[in-house]
Amino acid sequence: MTASNSNMPEAPGSADAALRMALDEAQRVNRAKSEFLAHTSHELRTPLNAIIGFAEFLQIKAGARLDPRERGYLDDIVQAAFHLQAIIQGILDFSRLEAGQLPLSEEPMRLAETVEASLRLVRNQAESKRIGLTHAADPALRVLADPTKLRQVCTNLLSNAVKFTKPGGEIRVEAGEDESGPYIRVADSGVGMSAEDIERAQKPYMRVANNPFVAKESGVGLGLPIAKALTELHGGTLDIQSTPGEGTRITMRLPGARRLT
Ligand SMILES: Nc1ncnc2c1ncn2[C@@H]1O[C@H](COP(=O)(O)OP(=O)(O)O)[C@@H](O)[C@H]1O
Ligand SMILES: [Mg+2]
Repeated sequence: MTASNSNMPEAPGSADAALRMALDEAQRVNRAKSEFLAHTSHELRTPLNAIIGFAEFLQIKAGARLDPRERGYLDDIVQAAFHLQAIIQGILDFSRLEAGQLPLSEEPMRLAETVEASLRLVRNQAESKRIGLTHAADPALRVLADPTKLRQVCTNLLSNAVKFTKPGGEIRVEAGEDESGPYIRVADSGVGMSAEDIERAQKPYMRVANNPFVAKESGVGLGLPIAKALTELHGGTLDIQSTPGEGTRITMRLPGARRLT
């Protein structure tokens, strides 16, 4: 039976009904999974905060009494714990997003501030890889959006650009607007992706597998799906253009209606 003939009453047990039941069930299971992940990652954060807190306390209090090797171990604990914290935060954010539990908190804001705040977070890492980081953002461009969420989108895109660009490369960030509306664009001269890779990279927990440069970088494959979901929460789109070996250009576009004058 096709859905096009809407006059026909639906027989119970028809293919349509079975399909709908299967879909409901799949959605229910997906919701349960999201709730489980949200709950678990929340529970994991409490002991992790204790590990970070006490390890940092030891760094300050006992650091001078330790030999260099022991100090190195302590630094490793702190570093690994922060890394784990970032992963857990990602899982928590994504499961909340999937469960529809992240409401938009909109206010008038400037995209230039989003760009500058995100740049501050990745500047050290870019410098240590000798990556050139330039930006251009129109300070007069104001939009109605959720500043925390847009900062996360921009930070996720930028941290990927830094991660997947080899030493000596270039990254450029722009905030502006064109006929379709306001945008933030992050372009890098990094490893790039094929069309297939781009499809894969947008799926949660998926990373581009066959690239040794990607494999040796840490990550769980949530940065891009989170950036996409947060952009879509604003009614926007994430446009990904990439060429293997040449670089990647990702544009976060907001609907024109979000532009404030
Ligand atoms: N700027 C980029 N250049 C090349 N590959 C990228 C870029 N951004 C993302 N990718 C690819 O998309 C995958 C998914 O990105 P993301 O969800 O942020 O995961 P993660 O950073 O944890 O690997 C990455 O593992 C990488 O393969
Ligand atoms: Mg990432």
